[in-house]
Amino acid sequence: MNRGNNRIGRRQLLKLIAGLAGSFWITPGLSLAAGRTTIKKAIPSSGELLPVIGMGSSGTFDAAGNKEVIANLEKVLGAFFEYGGTMIDSSPMYGSSEQVIGALLKTVSGPQTLFAATKVWTDGKASGITQMELSRKLWGVGRFDLMQIHNLRDWKVHLETLKAMKTEGKIRYIGITTSHGRYHDELLSTLSNYPFDFVQLSYNIGNREVEKALLPLAAERGIAVIANRPFARGNLFRQTKDKPLPDWTEAFGCNSWGQFFLKYAVSHPAVTCAIPATSKVHHMIDNMGAGFGVLPDKAMRKKMEDHFDAL
Ligand SMILES: NC(=O)c1ccc[n+]([C@@H]2O[C@H](COP(=O)([O-])OP(=O)(O)OC[C@H]3O[C@@H](n4cnc5c(N)ncnc54)[C@H](OP(=O)(O)O)[C@@H]3O)[C@@H](O)[C@H]2O)c1
Repeated sequence: MNRGNNRIGRRQLLKLIAGLAGSFWITPGLSLAAGRTTIKKAIPSSGELLPVIGMGSSGTFDAAGNKEVIANLEKVLGAFFEYGGTMIDSSPMYGSSEQVIGALLKTVSGPQTLFAATKVWTDGKASGITQMELSRKLWGVGRFDLMQIHNLRDWKVHLETLKAMKTEGKIRYIGITTSHGRYHDELLSTLSNYPFDFVQLSYNIGNREVEKALLPLAAERGIAVIANRPFARGNLFRQTKDKPLPDWTEAFGCNSWGQFFLKYAVSHPAVTCAIPATSKVHHMIDNMGAGFGVLPDKAMRKKMEDHFDAL
């Protein structure tokens, strides 16, 4: 390939377009997504396909009452759908996030295919039912696709409620979450003995702890895996600041460090999708770009690890 000084490379062009879209909003039909198919993975318990890049909402969507921030979040959400995103993850723990998501789902323009995922985060059966119903109203959805027990809180009680709700068609999938290496032993025994469709845990190139036991167990038990904190809350970017993205990443369609981290997380065979959070349109477009092209294979993943570890 000619990479002469006077020619703009594909990578520079993509960055330029993403930057322009971030500044001026996206013109439907002219986006990078047009004519391209997002990479999807199957939910093991059903075979349903999910785009590998979803969206988290902790912190970023906790913006009730702030008109300026909400107007920007509408564009963030619009970009998410425009680039083929479906799974949005939230929780009653995230302040006003569910309220803001629900309001924006009503106003965001363009086509939407929503896979609605939230959590139950309280103690007791009645309190759990009340909280889940409030979440449903805040989102304005008929039912949640995925209801997760947040950080294993009162999980034995909520699991019984969720099993009944799934049987009645009030939710489609049951999940359980943790983050940051917490509760791994309890989660291992829970996943080994109870019927979960999804597990959500922290996994990123700087924190590969779950590769030892939780990811192999999820694969063995046919449990879909959502990787939360795929950027370690942004810390990964601090580690790569001012470091050039290696040329060889172009082989798997990677154009930024954000895409490097996301493609790494979702290319683990046991991982179904990742849910990066962002408050910025250009970051959303960057992140969604990781869901196009190809994913790194085993040898490439090793090369990525070696490169990152040596930074
Ligand atoms: N126990 C649980 O159930 C649990 C625990 C933790 C997280 N989660 C879920 O997982 C989601 C993701 O985790 P997280 O929000 O903690 O952290 P994260 O997604 O790893 O990182 C978010 C940070 O990355 C930055 N960022 C995003 N895209 C970027 C890009 N392309 N380039 C540069 N910076 C970028 C964001 O800043 P900007 O806003 O400036 O883009 C933000 O500071 C949460 O929102 C939540 O939905 C669940």
